[in-house]
Amino acid sequence: MEVIGILDFGSQYTQVIARRVRECGVYTEIFHHKVKARVLRERGVRGIILSGGPASVYARNAPKMDPAVLGIGVPVLGICYGLQLIGGLMGGEVARSDHREYGKGSIRFRGRRSDLLSGVTAGSQIWNSHGDRLERLPKGFRVAAISENSPYAAVEDADRRIYGLQFHPEVSHTAEGKKILANFAHKICGCRSEWTMRSFIQHTCEAIRAQVGPGRVILGLSGGVDSSVAAALLHEAIGDQLRCIFVDNGLLRKNEARLVEEQFGKHMRIHLKCVDASRGFLRLLRGVTDPERKRKIIGNEFIRVFERARRSVGKAKFLAQGTLYPDVIESVSIGGNPAALIKSHHNVGGLPDDMEFELVEPLRQLFKDEVRRVGEELGLPREIVWRQPFPGPGLAVRCLGEITPEKLEILRNADWVVIDEMKRSGWYHKVWQSFAVLLPVRSVGVMGDERSYDYTIAVRVVESQDGMTADWVKLPYELLGQISSRIINEVKGVNRVTFDITSKPPGTIEWE
Ligand code: XMP
Repeated sequence: MEVIGILDFGSQYTQVIARRVRECGVYTEIFHHKVKARVLRERGVRGIILSGGPASVYARNAPKMDPAVLGIGVPVLGICYGLQLIGGLMGGEVARSDHREYGKGSIRFRGRRSDLLSGVTAGSQIWNSHGDRLERLPKGFRVAAISENSPYAAVEDADRRIYGLQFHPEVSHTAEGKKILANFAHKICGCRSEWTMRSFIQHTCEAIRAQVGPGRVILGLSGGVDSSVAAALLHEAIGDQLRCIFVDNGLLRKNEARLVEEQFGKHMRIHLKCVDASRGFLRLLRGVTDPERKRKIIGNEFIRVFERARRSVGKAKFLAQGTLYPDVIESVSIGGNPAALIKSHHNVGGLPDDMEFELVEPLRQLFKDEVRRVGEELGLPREIVWRQPFPGPGLAVRCLGEITPEKLEILRNADWVVIDEMKRSGWYHKVWQSFAVLLPVRSVGVMGDERSYDYTIAVRVVESQDGMTADWVKLPYELLGQISSRIINEVKGVNRVTFDITSKPPGTIEWE
């Protein structure tokens, strides 16, 4: 598979560059900015993109690169900080700036049309975000385009196949940015459009078969997108050699266990062991109110139950996990870039390190949007492929204070109403998460002619890119009203509904 390498200088957009190029049908891999030229050569990259970055090239700890990377003989595209680096390394001049410039501009071409800008419309919108700027071009370079805020919007040394952009082609504000990245991948690097989800499924199935041979593979299926797609993919590759284990910890959403059993057990005929461990979990959680203790208890019990179930399904040499590409990238943290600090929450409760398994991670190469496309390609229903994230400890972190079966039942029913109304109104797929939280307080109300003294539900709806930061969603009042009256009317035990208008930070998405 042809690959374009992306050197990460700490831009919040590095992963976006990788995804955009993949959308053009060319596979990409992200490398630490210090990667040696030799490594890239051995990996056989067909082209290299230098990402932007928050640092000034003059800063004391400014990320540097191996200069030999520019000489390995494949095309190089520097974006923003990447362009500054090329300028500095090849004898140009970079002017220091102590403030960043943000904003829109439009592109105007100069001289012969560069291959990089082929098919781009004159005047089309571009998006800038830069500190330093190139002041004098290195020898051999020419200007291919200018913009309102830069005489060096696009530059090139077409003979040496080195290109630079002062603006960001990867962001959606750059109207024809994807065309520019496609030009780089196809016209300049000569890559074909080989990266499709069909081709991914095909070569991953072959790779899985080669790795496991006739061996048996165990997968913890949570019903979330990643483990569901991993299950479908492994099943496609090795059929009955796959053994899935689904643990019902009693903290799942309404009908969740049934959905998983029907889809994977009955419909897809996957070997699925469903363990109803809810009583054990709830017994251990009795009287526990501290959020961290709840999480610990659930994590430990999950491992115990999973281990027991694993032994009962027979000997297996392999353990599959739904690890995704963002967990694999060796990200850089420069200048406090939040995108680089992302840590994923432990998967399905966290499995012990000393298990004697060889890992199978069929989704390691994929971004989340690609995982979803693979799921669709494998025929998984929309309800599973497009579902919102759900935390490993489940409703335990949304049932504040002590967890009891009665409170869980109230929460489950209220949550069901929230999901149902979000889906009916078309909002479910527009937001990151939408759910109910049960507060451990009762308040007074009137129902009919009677005084009530019941629980309060908080509705939490947030939008987010990655769960690290989030904004509360301004849902229409009518929808909020509908959610509220349905919860009050349909869920016994609730007489008050509030809407959480806290963003993250300062609030977390979950309440515990
Ligand atoms: P917070 O509450 O930390 O949540 O703002 C950020 C995102 O992570 C999810 N989350 C978890 N996921 N195990 C998980 O698998 C966990 O323990 C866990 N805690 C929070 C949360 O739903 C949100 O999407």
